[in-house]
Amino acid sequence: MKVLVIGGGAREHALCRSLSLDPAVSALYCAPGNAGIADVATLRPVDALDGDAVATLATELAADLVVVGPEAPLVAGVADAVRAAGIPVFGPSAEAAQLEGSKAFAKDVMAAAGVPTARSYVCTIPEEVDEALDAFGAPYVVKDDGLAAGKGVVVTDDLAVARAHALACDRVVIEEYLDGPEVSLFAITDGVTVVPLQPAQDFKRALDGDEGPNTGGMGAYSPLPWADPKLVDEVMELVLQPTVDELRRRGTPFSGLLYAGLAITGRGTRVIEFNARFGDPETQVVLARLRTPLAGVLLNAANGTLDALPPLVWREDAAVTVVIASHNYPETPRTGDPIEGLIEVAAEDEPDAYVLHAGTRREGNTVVSAGGRVLSVTATGSDLAQARAKAYKAVARIRLDGSQHRTDIAAKAAEGR
Ligand code: AMP
Ligand code: GLY
Repeated sequence: MKVLVIGGGAREHALCRSLSLDPAVSALYCAPGNAGIADVATLRPVDALDGDAVATLATELAADLVVVGPEAPLVAGVADAVRAAGIPVFGPSAEAAQLEGSKAFAKDVMAAAGVPTARSYVCTIPEEVDEALDAFGAPYVVKDDGLAAGKGVVVTDDLAVARAHALACDRVVIEEYLDGPEVSLFAITDGVTVVPLQPAQDFKRALDGDEGPNTGGMGAYSPLPWADPKLVDEVMELVLQPTVDELRRRGTPFSGLLYAGLAITGRGTRVIEFNARFGDPETQVVLARLRTPLAGVLLNAANGTLDALPPLVWREDAAVTVVIASHNYPETPRTGDPIEGLIEVAAEDEPDAYVLHAGTRREGNTVVSAGGRVLSVTATGSDLAQARAKAYKAVARIRLDGSQHRTDIAAKAAEGR
């Protein structure tokens, strides 16, 4: 099977790593990729937002499967263009990707499907904003309706800050604050059958102790020893299957990866958000634990034959990933700094710790930083404490001037808290 992966972050590196280990994959391409993905896949340049360009590339490569990683190409209709060219694609149509592309659309689908989520108002004028902020009170949760690359959501006790963010957006969703730990649960679906993956937890804030600004995600771990063992079944029944059924009923079936961001509140599990693609950095830890070869799973979803897929097989191991970010991330990150220590991590006789690249590129013989999140250092171990220790040992070998990482990824969970 020839597979083409679209994107170039740590999530795509994790996808390519798993696909490269799958004996069914005879050729693996990634476009545009990054310096690390080049070790496991052949890179091709492409404008990932240009559906025709992606379809042309997939045709030229005689790809049997195209996997679209990030949300922006999905919302732009890249999966539709590839499907129109007659090539199986893992990723939803532009219409179904509105589940991530518009918070208001997602709320509407959840209401129709009876999916538990925060109560909310969609506001377009200042009077509606003030009424909604007043109705819920602090902490205020204000979400830009459209795609905002992780910067659209403001959670604050400060009414003026909440109001200013709301007024800066064309359309906002203002909602009830949900209190409780967050869980990311991914499911693979072909629009009918839904196959849940293992839950993970992401660390969204920049600094230790969940302080500092929101980011795209600074680390993740799986499994969640503190979570109710029935969580996956419950979310399947209350959230994932009803959402997939509702989108099919509307004539816009969702096929690809359905990401449920959940809050485990005192009053039950609630959806915080949906995404229409694999999460980053949670994918790094979820795929580290998946034993079933990945290509067949994604192809079955793309072809609408997930019902024929045998149950997924998981490792008993735990996995932890720690993101190394550039100086000044998540503000304007500094790029172009050389990264050292990559070879030492690869040479270490610790095959279960490895570096996945996010924002990197090659300059001659050196790999340099090229984005806000630069690397996602991932390790597996017999439990979270061991996976954590291996991941941080590898992090310590990496040298990138001015870089930052959290030191408390999975710390509480590893201690049974
Ligand atoms: P989102 O982009 O919707 O995932 O929001 C980013 C982050 O904001 C989430 O991971 C939560 O930490 C926080 N957040 C979003 N919605 C709520 C809510 N209703 N209550 C509390 N926190 C929220
Ligand atoms: N880790 C959060 C996201 O992928 O949106």
